[in-house]
Amino acid sequence: MQDPHHTKTDFLVIGSGIAGLTYALKVAQECPDRKIIVMTKTTSDETNTKYAQGGVAAVWDEDVDNFNKHIEDTLIAGDGLCSEETVRIVVNEGPQRVREIIEWGARFDKDPDGDYALGKEGGHSESRILHYKDVTGREIERALLEAVRRKPNITIINHCFVLDLITQHHLGYLITKSTPDIECYGVYVLNMSTKRIEKILSKVTLLATGGNGQIYRTTTNPAIATGDGVAMVYRAKGRIENMEFIQFHPTALYEPQVHGHSFLITEAVRGDGGILRNMSGEAFMARYDERKDLAPRDIVARAIDSEMKIGGMEHVWLDCTHMDKDKFLKHFPNIYEKCKSIGIDPMKDMIPVAPAAHYSCGGIKTDTMGRTSINQLYAAGECASTGLHGANRLASNSLLEAMVFAHRCFQASTQVIDSLNFREDIPDWKAEGTTVPKEMILITQSLKELQSVMTDYVGIVRTDVRLQRASRRLDLLFEETEALYQKTSVSPQLCELRNMITVSYLVVKGASFRKESRGLHYNTDYPFRSKLVQNNVL
Ligand code: FAD
Ligand code: SIN
Repeated sequence: MQDPHHTKTDFLVIGSGIAGLTYALKVAQECPDRKIIVMTKTTSDETNTKYAQGGVAAVWDEDVDNFNKHIEDTLIAGDGLCSEETVRIVVNEGPQRVREIIEWGARFDKDPDGDYALGKEGGHSESRILHYKDVTGREIERALLEAVRRKPNITIINHCFVLDLITQHHLGYLITKSTPDIECYGVYVLNMSTKRIEKILSKVTLLATGGNGQIYRTTTNPAIATGDGVAMVYRAKGRIENMEFIQFHPTALYEPQVHGHSFLITEAVRGDGGILRNMSGEAFMARYDERKDLAPRDIVARAIDSEMKIGGMEHVWLDCTHMDKDKFLKHFPNIYEKCKSIGIDPMKDMIPVAPAAHYSCGGIKTDTMGRTSINQLYAAGECASTGLHGANRLASNSLLEAMVFAHRCFQASTQVIDSLNFREDIPDWKAEGTTVPKEMILITQSLKELQSVMTDYVGIVRTDVRLQRASRRLDLLFEETEALYQKTSVSPQLCELRNMITVSYLVVKGASFRKESRGLHYNTDYPFRSKLVQNNVL
């Protein structure tokens, strides 16, 4: 830790993406005398947020758009499982939160008249996506980090891997799922600078740990997206919801030699006229949905999956060759550069694309103020399940949700902070920490196995047999990894593997409970929606 005295803080924020930084900024502004620590497991800008391309959905031009249309689009995408109350909150409060990040310094593209240029993405009935070229997330992350660095009462601590939440369990009490009033007193962290496990006591803790795309072989998510927050809450006996709804982005760049983190080709390219074609050159989306290439992403991803299987191919094509070069270069300079760097000229060649794991719609269950089932613990951003996305997230709704819920967590937690105290009798972590994994080969092999199991059996199309098979494989991986965890020293690699096994187990369990196909969960044994409308709370 940069400052060894930082072991107590009023507000502890785990995660430096849009959710964590928005929250920290607001608290710092409201409570200038309170201490806020933001912790990250690598560097402060290495987040899912940084890679967001398309933009932020918000009702902006009320001459053509309105709140009801955005609400309706979100509810349709969510396929019957959204909380209408949450949808209304996010859509209605969204524009105000966007204005705030503009005030903090985030830039969005404007048209020649000086109005914000609004893009369109799948499932949106109007153009309402504010964006900055094709690097919206990078711009937001830059602006937030700069604003945070101007706040003297916020300390960012990098390279601190949060291992577990501290609750009554660490004081020797037996905690079960039905224990009322589980409380969070802080966290244990593996400090990569001191190579020791330290305890951080906090009055309020916010989990903003992002997504879990790394449980799949191919994902648009960076390496940090290992579902740590969800796994920690599950271990602490908190409530987790709807983990089966994993969104696959239809168009990740297909690069056979690249593993782990695929480059995204934003949906905005299709919004601007890009067309998906199969190996015969057919614009196949018309056969699957009347909205063609701009149908909601679950439909597009399944259609691509089906075309790839029919053609025995590992990708389809995204055709931009008919698009205006100047416009393309202005809106998508990063994509253009990336394609050129691997020998593809998007104005002359079609781009090979394939679906990749992209977003976790479920997560840590919260109420409408971001409170989790554990007292003094809040969650916001991709790790949370607020009820906004239901069975499928509408494109570009997540950055918006993260800001709206960071604000709500800020409101709720600053209201109670004066009544909270530190818990002084927390024991130290039971064992010494180290960062040198003894059995690295076992960890990397188990990770590969896990990603194969999830990709092959729990992907875009599921069946009961595949889920049962996945479940048996996960049991074995769990057993072997727990044995390793008990007898070797703690390392981030081992802890991430453990967390990913837990998260995968929750995805498989949620998928197995759901005897229907709805939104992003498609099981060919139950191809239709059930009349029973239920969220899976685990
Ligand atoms: P993140 O930004 O992922 O931040 C997570 C933080 O948690 C990191 O700082 C990490 O270090 C920290 N952390 C995690 N675990 C630990 C631990 N154990 N200990 C310490 N720290 C930890 N959404 C949109 O709305 N519009 C888009 O255009 C869009 N495009 C996208 C494009 C891509 C390629 C991807 C991957 C996602 C996109 N999304 C988009 C989704 C959106 O970017 C994410 O949902 C959102 O940024 C998540 O923000 P967050 O604050 O919840 O978490
Ligand atoms: C994209 O730009 O296509 C991604 C948008 C999102 O995931 O919301």
